[in-house]
Amino acid sequence: MQLSTKHLLGIKELTRKDISTILTTAIQFKEVLQRPVKKVPSLRDITVVNLFYENSTRTRISFELAEKRLGADTINFATSSSSVSKGETLLDTVNNILAMKVDMVVMRHSASGAPHFLARHLPNTAIINAGDGINEHPTQALLDAFSIIEKTGSIEGRKVLIIGDIMHSRVALSNIYLLKKMGAEVMVSGPPTLMPVYIAEALGVKVELNLKKALAWCDVANILRIQLERQHQVLFSSLREYNLSYGVKKSVLDAINKEIVIMHPGPINRGVELDSDVADSHQSIILQQVENGVAVRMAVMYLLGGGNVH
Ligand code: CP
Repeated sequence: MQLSTKHLLGIKELTRKDISTILTTAIQFKEVLQRPVKKVPSLRDITVVNLFYENSTRTRISFELAEKRLGADTINFATSSSSVSKGETLLDTVNNILAMKVDMVVMRHSASGAPHFLARHLPNTAIINAGDGINEHPTQALLDAFSIIEKTGSIEGRKVLIIGDIMHSRVALSNIYLLKKMGAEVMVSGPPTLMPVYIAEALGVKVELNLKKALAWCDVANILRIQLERQHQVLFSSLREYNLSYGVKKSVLDAINKEIVIMHPGPINRGVELDSDVADSHQSIILQQVENGVAVRMAVMYLLGGGNVH
């Protein structure tokens, strides 16, 4: 099995078949992860560098675990302890790492397009985008899709609501691309100041600024963190005001006469976009998303590595 691309830069570049191939392959890796011995040697002889220029808990640990489960050799790179702090450029850093014979680069960067830049300069190395600025977070969208299918049976025809800071969210963009390609209906909700003006026309999603109406419409609600680190001006009055208008809380869900699936990519700002009694409720699949991330990332790396089982 092969993908139509040598890199995973974004969902935008994937075909519907690529997405199905990754999600189907991830089912097999999820089965591997249930075994007493959770390892397969599919990436034996492959060296992967995890290049994280921006903080991460879930994505970094998940990729590293996926690499180890596949038998790859892994190198972890943190900018704070590297020569980047002495002014070395991204390309010089990566060329030096590649001189040590690295086969795959997993990169998170605060600049949108950073992994695309690497892919242009290093066409023979598989580049995986682990989140670039406000552009895309493709493996998050893939693990979200995997989790929706696992919980509800399918993506096709599913009504998925994405709530919150749509403007600054790479999770929102990757999810919208994926869900639309796979036949879901997508609605976005949040403060007008955090909503891109032409999003309905540009991406083919519905927009509903009234959270209660939006929640009443959906089968699945994916709730986003307020990305304060990417906001360079005040875009809403206070976190308390945000919680009152757009926080997902039990009282709001109780008023809806159906049970919706609650998702969040993490990290959660509890009491801001999501209250604890919802985040920790039986409706929430937040920790299943994290669990599924390992199988999905194993599938991505296995397929980009050539799909060979040793
Ligand atoms: N979901 C996600 O990207 O989380 P981290 O920032 O902790 O990797």
